[in-house]
Amino acid sequence: MRRPIIAGNWKMYKDINEARELVAAIKRDVFEIDNVEMVVIPPFVDLAEVDEITTGSNISLGAQNCYWEKEGAFTGEISPAMLKSVGCKYVVVGHSERRKYFGETDETVNLKIKAVIEAGLSPIACVGETLEEREKGETLEVVKRQVKGALKGFSADFLKKLVIAYEPVWAIGTGRTATPDQAQEVHAMIRGLLKELYSANFAEEKCVLYGGSVKPDNIESLMRAKDIDGGLIGGASLKADGYVSMAKITSVLYSSL
Ligand code: 13P
Repeated sequence: MRRPIIAGNWKMYKDINEARELVAAIKRDVFEIDNVEMVVIPPFVDLAEVDEITTGSNISLGAQNCYWEKEGAFTGEISPAMLKSVGCKYVVVGHSERRKYFGETDETVNLKIKAVIEAGLSPIACVGETLEEREKGETLEVVKRQVKGALKGFSADFLKKLVIAYEPVWAIGTGRTATPDQAQEVHAMIRGLLKELYSANFAEEKCVLYGGSVKPDNIESLMRAKDIDGGLIGGASLKADGYVSMAKITSVLYSSL
């Protein structure tokens, strides 16, 4: 069985004091959970401090973005190796907000995945259709194109640490969650595509997370879907009790499966 991942993407929220307080509160309440990979993904400036607090705990650290070069004159950018040096294990790449506001494309996502894996970290590669694409019936085609573009040129062996997150753009921050059936349809397609591109084993092992208005009161029905292996959660992960309750619900669910 795949080990579920509950990842809190803090986006551009939480200064250093707020970050310290939030992660300390989460840590206090999740120490007994051992069957869920719990990840917090704060803004860059909080990483080193949050790492201090989470080191030795059952909480892992992730970053929201990176650049694909190892180092150089790239003002404002941060390399995967730098993220590793402050304790990161995961890096989100291709989030829809980065695609929308910062020009991220399937090509740059591909470059970032390569750089992240070469630095020894796990990419969480985000894909997802817009409302317009869904309404035109293009969801599966769009997501398939994004996954193929993201993974182009990589071997199964290279992609051992890959995590994929399906985040329908229309469900992000809108309160409009995909139904478990809507999400499962896309997750099943992604797993089928991984099987086609690599192998049945590869597809079976990969975690595919769902993101988009996940909350304590809808997480269980989403996590019950066969091909949903965790959540990438924005708004509801910004409060300790919200994050903790989602991690606990997932833990209880998985221990009963
Ligand atoms: P919300 O949970 O706020 O909808 O955000 C989802 C998301 O974008 C996580 O990366």
